[in-house]
Amino acid sequence: MIEVAQLTRVFRTYKKVPGFWGGVKGLFHREFVETAAAKDISFSIGEGEFVGFLGPNGAGKTTTLKMLAGLIYPTSGKATVAGFDPTKRENAYRRLFALVLGQKNQLWWDLPAIESFNLLRAIYAIPEAQFKATLDELVDLLGVREKLNVMVRELSLGERMKMELIAALLHRPRVLFLDEPTIGLDVVSQRAVRQFLRDYNRRHRVTILLTSHYMADIKELCERVIVIHKGRKIYDGALGRLENAGGAKKKIITFLPAASANGVFPETWQSRFGETKRAEDGKFTLRVPGENVVAVSQEILSTGPVADITIEDVPLEDVIAELFSTQS
Ligand SMILES: Nc1ncnc2c1ncn2[C@@H]1O[C@H](COP(=O)(O)OP(=O)(O)OP(=O)(O)O)[C@@H](O)[C@H]1O
Ligand SMILES: [Mg+2]
Repeated sequence: MIEVAQLTRVFRTYKKVPGFWGGVKGLFHREFVETAAAKDISFSIGEGEFVGFLGPNGAGKTTTLKMLAGLIYPTSGKATVAGFDPTKRENAYRRLFALVLGQKNQLWWDLPAIESFNLLRAIYAIPEAQFKATLDELVDLLGVREKLNVMVRELSLGERMKMELIAALLHRPRVLFLDEPTIGLDVVSQRAVRQFLRDYNRRHRVTILLTSHYMADIKELCERVIVIHKGRKIYDGALGRLENAGGAKKKIITFLPAASANGVFPETWQSRFGETKRAEDGKFTLRVPGENVVAVSQEILSTGPVADITIEDVPLEDVIAELFSTQS
């Protein structure tokens, strides 16, 4: 459904030399720096896939999505979405995809959402019956029926995001580019949007490429993730495998020695397990390879009385941060 080959986008930004003479000089000779926001990115996404697009701030995620949507042109390389070349901006392509930018409002601020929807109906020439059916489905799924006649600027952030999603889906696109659709939402709204996206993806088999800084979104929605860092793709594959990417899958064991265990666990005791630390509250935290978890836990429990012990996966955020730090 989506084919991307060596997609590259270089931005040129002009350096401003400070001061008056710098300004004069700049009139004749402008110096610029080139940054490759996306560099040789290639991937292929099948119909109905729900792929997470990850990377730290400035990695090039939005740039890539904008190229796929035909909003900006690649410097080199090529993208094809459902057989269309986005740079041609054909009407048939416009009907096929939708781009949702969580950071940007695409609805008319001073109109109730329903008016924006009616305008979109005209723009996309959606037949009346189809429009009604689609709108009904979306409004019910997102639970915003009683907000349809409220001015968009008076909606809460979460309600507005839901309206943005409806606006994006009214023409029944086959491909969705979602750029941080849950940004700034509270936990409840995030969950609602997430659930909606999952249902919608399954129900209509739409292909979705999603960026989010919330790992919960990625974990719950995407089996596959593409990770980019400084414009380059550094990982593409199962989310489950990403968690193992930094070597053996590690677990975190945290335990609190009982008061009666005073001194039984010396500060140095933990160093035998590699990466460890002791918190102010007296808790020991050990990061151990998955296969050693049982042995290490047994050793802890046999060394002295323990008030509390937990074993957890290393948070996905940490796994990814590690992955970035190993790339220069
Ligand atoms: N119009 C532009 N002109 C110049 N540089 C740009 C432009 N748009 C983006 N960039 C640069 O390209 C790089 C990638 O930006 P992009 O917005 O794609 O990152 P991102 O992965 O979406 O980050 P974030 O997680 O913060 O949204 C950044 O270094 C950014 O400064
Ligand atoms: Mg972005």
